[in-house]
Amino acid sequence: MFNQESLKKLEQEKTRWESTTVDKVIKKTPERHEKFYTGSNLEVDRLYTPLDVQELDYMKDLGFPGEYPYTRGIQPTMYRGRFWTMRQYAGFGTAEESNERYKYLLSQGQTGLSVAFDLPTQIGYDSDHPLAQGEVGKVGVAIDSLKDMEILFDGIPLDQVSTSMTINAPASVLLAMYIAVAEKQGVSADKLSGTIQNDILKEYVARGTYIFPPEPSMRLITNIFEFCSKHVPKWNTISISGYHIREAGATAVQEVAFTLANGIAYVEAAIKAGLDVDEFAPRLSFFFNAHNDLLEEVAKFRAARRLWARIMKERFKAKNPKSMMLRFHTQTGGSTLTAQQPDNNIVRVTIQALAAVLGGTQSLHTNSRDEALALPTEESVRIALRTQQIIAYESGVTETIDPLAGSYYVEHLTNLIEQKAMEYIQKIDELGGAPKAIEKGYIQQEIQDSAYRYQQEIESGRRIVVGVNKFQIEEEPPKNLLKVNPEVEKIQKKKLETLRATRDNIAVQNALEELSKKAATDENLMPSIINCVKAYATLGEICDTLRRVFGEYKATVTF
Ligand code: 3HC
Repeated sequence: MFNQESLKKLEQEKTRWESTTVDKVIKKTPERHEKFYTGSNLEVDRLYTPLDVQELDYMKDLGFPGEYPYTRGIQPTMYRGRFWTMRQYAGFGTAEESNERYKYLLSQGQTGLSVAFDLPTQIGYDSDHPLAQGEVGKVGVAIDSLKDMEILFDGIPLDQVSTSMTINAPASVLLAMYIAVAEKQGVSADKLSGTIQNDILKEYVARGTYIFPPEPSMRLITNIFEFCSKHVPKWNTISISGYHIREAGATAVQEVAFTLANGIAYVEAAIKAGLDVDEFAPRLSFFFNAHNDLLEEVAKFRAARRLWARIMKERFKAKNPKSMMLRFHTQTGGSTLTAQQPDNNIVRVTIQALAAVLGGTQSLHTNSRDEALALPTEESVRIALRTQQIIAYESGVTETIDPLAGSYYVEHLTNLIEQKAMEYIQKIDELGGAPKAIEKGYIQQEIQDSAYRYQQEIESGRRIVVGVNKFQIEEEPPKNLLKVNPEVEKIQKKKLETLRATRDNIAVQNALEELSKKAATDENLMPSIINCVKAYATLGEICDTLRRVFGEYKATVTF
């Protein structure tokens, strides 16, 4: 973008500036550090100029919003046409309690739903399973059967809202329940919009809510791709997640690299299962984190979008432009929240949310100030939602598209993150792809190393966390934290007892037997799973049927 002569002149001028203007001052006032780094340890220079982006080719590297390589955004008009979906991750206790919270959030202006399930649901156990004790309704809502799902969405028209469900190993079962609830509301599956996380690879790496070994897990995932492309065309069949990888301690570069490497593995698995890339790729979606280093996060999102577009076009020869669009949800960084001075978290979340918006997110969850201590109260979740609304309506950053483009620093960082992420992906390719790299523990080790370094920086005081290792105060623990209903376990057990006593147990048995038979073939399991949920088989009964055929995953790699 700049001619050689002017660059040469600029280089001379920059040298002059450093050896005169700068030198004079730092003799008297040295800079705060020898070297400066981003939140993810990328070195940061004192100043960026056209010299740092001289290879930048506008049409090749940036282009226009809504056109390949989508660096500046996937929609031609971005937030001038429609704000991102304000989608607060929520759910706790019984379906009744969560249904109340969803209605409250929708009444406060939230524009999409996001269901948090409790751990027993996420790992395919009913609330009365011995392993569920103490966890029922704790980190999310307890869902044991279609009955609970009907209550969860009672009074919420499923043809007018998009619903994300953070569910992975049993994603096929919860999707089946959602389709069945919609049918009872008179809404056909082709009208449904939403997302299931359905990303098992990151569960092996960072989150841990897996059930089955990789192969049958990948089969269930590609079964969903195939089933939805035919019957639920507006459904986002997977949310390939970097959020938890980052929360586990990965850097911004590793978040992009390991998430896109997992994405490549899903695309390869679907193609191997006989699907055409342009048939399923438009409905792949992503989920990233937003940490405190505002400009690094913006560069990270832009780099991820361009890199994914290039991978889909060059590596997988996708033809449909929608196959190359990286559409993503962002959640602000839970691990950056402090238990100390919780109101400070409102400021951190604002910076992180701003990064997601300046980075072109399609959907956003803002953490509540008290989430380092408990699930959010109604007041703190309202402040979190208002944070999004103030950025949307008052900050001005939504009036034009990708406003930070052309910043020498942001474009330099976008290039650097893309290039470093590509190097990681090449390394993972050499190891045989993400599943193999995970099996070898490579990805986990890289994350552990980053997590260790980050912790060291905090402990040494090199990295300041306000209120934690600087600017501490004596403070009382906050009083009005949300308490999960202590009766949830009892209520759920009672519901299960009544369900098993009143349902048609022959129909349940037949449906489960048919599922078991189909699981031993290579047929698509979604129709059989839908039959099971409609007969009111419980989540645990369905997952146990699949456990008996597929077995269970045992983590082999330890550190
Ligand atoms: N002009 C015209 N149309 C526009 C537009 C514009 N400017 N902006 C958006 N639109 C259209 C879109 O094209 C879309 O229409 P389509 O479906 O026909 O294409 C519609 O408006 C909705 O827009 P989006 O699809 O961009 O927005 P959604 O919110 O519906 O979808 C998503 C966003 C990222 C694609 C989707 O996958 C999603 O919602 N993901 C959310 C995932 C999530 O919430 N995860 C939470 C996980 S919590 C967790 O795991 C953490 C825990 O473990 C701690």
